[in-house]
Amino acid sequence: MILSCFMFHFQATLGFFALPTEPSNIVESLITNLIILLGAILLTSGEDGRSRAEQLLHILRQLDPYVSASAEHQRRRGCVAVHEVLVKFRNLCSGGFGASGSYPTLSLKHIDQGGPRGSSSLPSAFVLPNRDSLSLGERIMAYLPRCADTDDEVRKVAIQIIALFFNISLSLPKQKTSANDIDLESSYGALSSLEDIVSIIRRASVDQIEVFHRVVSSVCILLSKDEVNIIS
Ligand SMILES: *[C@@H]1O[C@H](CO)[C@@H](O)[C@H](O)[C@H]1NC(C)=O
Repeated sequence: MILSCFMFHFQATLGFFALPTEPSNIVESLITNLIILLGAILLTSGEDGRSRAEQLLHILRQLDPYVSASAEHQRRRGCVAVHEVLVKFRNLCSGGFGASGSYPTLSLKHIDQGGPRGSSSLPSAFVLPNRDSLSLGERIMAYLPRCADTDDEVRKVAIQIIALFFNISLSLPKQKTSANDIDLESSYGALSSLEDIVSIIRRASVDQIEVFHRVVSSVCILLSKDEVNIIS
């Protein structure tokens, strides 16, 4: 009940992404604040890596209609929001879930459990989500078409999104069944090639078809068979 109520407001709030571009000073700051809010929702929700990954996917799926909207400014806002939320998520992954200090997760845990303070209640807070919880196949298919978008800004952000997704996924544990399906060495190679593309397109204008081709070949190496199967 509370959750569905929250969801209702959440979706209504995301509706601001559909606002026209004018008056630009007002709309721009509204969108910026909305994106900050999405990051805050991700940081404050969930107890551990797993529930945060669920929250991440939930937010990203809500953003899908904007990412693929027919209006350019909506796609731009959608992609920038996805990128911001992913950056927050990556920082959580590298900083350790629940270790962020400024968020109440840990202190609440101590009070709730009434148990001994400190290390004994830490392990669950540090549980990383596994790679499968990112639904990589589904997510990449949501953003890959945007890497060939007609809008320059959308294309750049979309490629960054894909690089970030694989940057995060390579730092996460894998389920046993898919673990031997991913060749780490070629994955790191493909990811650094993706990151090269990101830095090149920031500096210069490059042949779009060539760039898209390179993104697709990297993605083919980086996705596991299981993840590709989910797509087809
Ligand atoms: C992911 O990105 C961070 C920050 O740019 C970097 O330090 C890290 O090495 C990257 N991870 C991989 C697997 O490339």
